[in-house]
Amino acid sequence: MSSHLLSVDSLSRDYVEHLMQLAGRMEPFAQRRKVTRVLEGAVLGNLFFEASTRTRISFHAAFSRLGGSVCDTTGFTFSSMAKGESLYDTSRVMGGYVDAVVLRHPDQGAVAEFAEATRVPVINGGDGPGEHPSQALLDLYTIEKEFTRLGKRLEGAHLLLTGDLKHGRTVHSLIKLLSLFDPLRITLVSPPGLEMPRHLIDLVTSRGHRVEQRESLANDFGDLDVIYTTRIQKERFTDEMSETFAGISQDFIVDRAFLDQRCSPTTIVMHPLPRDSRPGANDLNVDLNGDPRLAIFRQADNGIPMRMAIFANLLQVEDYIERDAQDVRWFVPPTFGVDDRTL
Ligand code: NCD
Repeated sequence: MSSHLLSVDSLSRDYVEHLMQLAGRMEPFAQRRKVTRVLEGAVLGNLFFEASTRTRISFHAAFSRLGGSVCDTTGFTFSSMAKGESLYDTSRVMGGYVDAVVLRHPDQGAVAEFAEATRVPVINGGDGPGEHPSQALLDLYTIEKEFTRLGKRLEGAHLLLTGDLKHGRTVHSLIKLLSLFDPLRITLVSPPGLEMPRHLIDLVTSRGHRVEQRESLANDFGDLDVIYTTRIQKERFTDEMSETFAGISQDFIVDRAFLDQRCSPTTIVMHPLPRDSRPGANDLNVDLNGDPRLAIFRQADNGIPMRMAIFANLLQVEDYIERDAQDVRWFVPPTFGVDDRTL
């Protein structure tokens, strides 16, 4: 394993399983029962050149909960890239200031290019339509946690990935990550023109998984274990696509009726978020709010233990995490949301 986390391509199954275990060890800290200071004195550079709420804040919070501090910059306008600085120069300079970098950038491959110019660990927080490896890791961690509670196994599970599978970097990383494990059944449903790239389908199939593409959700999916929905990434459309895309039809909407009529009582619903709640966006329906099958907020919460695990591993402090742990003294609510219910 290199000292960067740029793509799922460089991860082995053993390493991923190790990170899952490490994330489990982070739960007392992520759930605010314990405090650790293992990264005291370390500084994270959190560079986000594309919109973000949860990825930026959860990386920031994860580093802080390990005792480190964080420098932040958001958007090109307030960075020296607006003055024409190259990725190489920015990277070299940042390496002199901070101990780790999280970078989100609109161009595919930009984070890898940035990482070439520095020896401090660099994490890909999303590079255009490329990859989002930490999101895939927290998604897999969520699936494992939910399955453990439901008495299910990952092996042989049936997952539905739906939405914008062409531009969604989270599903690109997730399908690669899932392909490292024992045979799964993966069904892909997307509006025409937004299908999963062929090379990713070929990769997963060549590793022994059963992949099926369907044209709408108007089918019976009876044995689904996981529905992973994604937002239509209109910001990545070419002008031509924007002109021809007529919006997402009713045939692609995951809502309570779809779950009740076409799935099982233990099918969990995931989404990397944000979900587009504007009228006509037809993203994951809000009528599932409060339904215990809706795992999206538990999934977002899992960003903290998984990102803590990634930092602890890349900065090589895994062995010291519990050593100086203390109890939390401030008020922590029993659940974080007013509608929180688990299956
Ligand atoms: C996603 C992203 O930025 O790729 N969000 C996230 O990081 N959780 C998904 C999206 O923007 O639709």
